Amino acid sequence: MLADDIMTKERWALQAVRPMTDEEFNLWQALIEARVGMTMGAARRSFLGTSLSLRMRELGMQDYGAYYERMVQGSGSAAEPEWAVLVDRLTVQETSFFRHQPSYDCYGRHIESLLHEPARRQINIWSVGCSTGEEPYSLAMQLQVQLEQAARSDIYWGITASDISLPTLAKARRGIYGSRRCQQIPENLMSRFFQPAGRDQFQIQASVRERICFVQINVMELENAPIYGVDVIFCQNVLIYFKRFRKRDIVGRLVDRLAPGGLLILGVNEMVDWQHPHLDRVNDAGVLAFRRRITI
Ligand SMILES: C[S@@+](CC[C@H](N)C(=O)[O-])C[C@H]1O[C@@H](n2cnc3c(N)ncnc32)[C@H](O)[C@@H]1O
Repeated sequence: MLADDIMTKERWALQAVRPMTDEEFNLWQALIEARVGMTMGAARRSFLGTSLSLRMRELGMQDYGAYYERMVQGSGSAAEPEWAVLVDRLTVQETSFFRHQPSYDCYGRHIESLLHEPARRQINIWSVGCSTGEEPYSLAMQLQVQLEQAARSDIYWGITASDISLPTLAKARRGIYGSRRCQQIPENLMSRFFQPAGRDQFQIQASVRERICFVQINVMELENAPIYGVDVIFCQNVLIYFKRFRKRDIVGRLVDRLAPGGLLILGVNEMVDWQHPHLDRVNDAGVLAFRRRITI
């Protein structure tokens, strides 16, 4: 690249991209909703504008229309590299270990019932929208402890942990967390499952990391995910920005992936007035969980 070109690009990078017009906002809003499921309502307009313009500056682009054209080209999958970057900027990755304790208590009771089945040899868990890994690692630690307490070394277990954001999944795979994050972990689990990994950082044991398969899955494209016969699906704080009909569609697809008797745990208040013909609601007001009927 010539020096003049570099200077022009740098000048562009310093310039503020102009605000979106209503028409541009409507186009982007519809595109993101269709591909990724997130609704960018009027309240999120300035967040969308800032996120897009920051990314456009990095790319040396000034025109929302040109960037839009670039994003609608290709197969349209959110797995495409530029979509992966943009989606990462637009999604909220906030999470924590054992984020909602009543949901983990409900999970623990279900695992307990599985451990009482003498013929059981496998337990499969799916953390949907796993962010930086705190959720699947919490599920894993709890399961490992329960297996040991029940002396069920004959049971093989594994967790699929999926998210749309590739950088987030990369962090999750490393399993390294700062000491402040780790304060959410009970002391007995911390000393049992974590080891120091540099200054003020801790890494979860390799034996736990190896049980978790981190994979990029867009919940809008669940038909491509070859995951079936799952004993527990944990899907919390993922569908909060999705339209009601999309939520129902996605959760309906998750139900199809549950094993008979399997448990679906959603975030409290995430599905209001929702029922499914194959599910029974778990009788616990503190959680939003459903068990798949064994016979349909
Ligand atoms: C707020 S975090 C929730 C993390 C964790 N489940 C929890 O409750 O702590 C939401 C996660 O959903 C992911 N996400 C958002 N849209 C998604 C989509 N269309 N498909 C898959 N994951 C998505 C985000 O990347 C983010 O990591």
